[in-house]
Amino acid sequence: MILKYFTTKEDFVKSLVAIYKLIQEQFVQCPSSHSLEHTIRVAELSLSLALEIGANVDIVVIAALLHDIAREKEKLTGSCHAEEGAKMAKDILEKMHLTVMIPDICDAILSHRFSKNLTPSSIEGKILRDADMLDALGTIGLYRVIHYGIEHNKNLNEIIEHFYSKLLKLEHLMHFESSKKMAQERTLFLRIFVEGINDSLITSDFHSLLKQLEDR
Ligand SMILES: [Fe+2]
Ligand SMILES: [Fe+2]
Repeated sequence: MILKYFTTKEDFVKSLVAIYKLIQEQFVQCPSSHSLEHTIRVAELSLSLALEIGANVDIVVIAALLHDIAREKEKLTGSCHAEEGAKMAKDILEKMHLTVMIPDICDAILSHRFSKNLTPSSIEGKILRDADMLDALGTIGLYRVIHYGIEHNKNLNEIIEHFYSKLLKLEHLMHFESSKKMAQERTLFLRIFVEGINDSLITSDFHSLLKQLEDR
């Protein structure tokens, strides 16, 4: 395991526990689509990618834990959660005397957001971006997109449109072979779902009901 800013794994783990305690309160009011559980899944995916690729595990896991801390703030104020999150991460790292990590962590957080269209400049930033996109795919991605749609009063057609405008494209944006492979598997699941639901929408309407009655 490669650590850039910690000399021992024990010190790194202690810092992770302290960060986890600090971030929990940021997610109390957060909706399920961007909950603390999403953050933890992204941290786990980031860790496994970092170990496989040989990236700095400390940067990757800390950036992942902090990447969505401003989600609630974005909901309340409309400010960009990647920009706000980088500012909040800076404050947290200063309080924890981890100032030396700030540029690497903030850079990864700033560039993680899909809709900002920024290219992460470091391997660690790319890992975070891939892990975050992976959590939008597969079974958990399906749960999240439906939850997000309900939270934002979207109808079924609008939710389906989100599959085509964003989710089904993510597999092509992965930075590493292993994340690409995982994304392809997860996208296949989403494609089966969205094509199935499209078929149901096309065939299920009032006129087809009447037609079926006529044919009897
Ligand atoms: Fe985010
Ligand atoms: Fe996220």
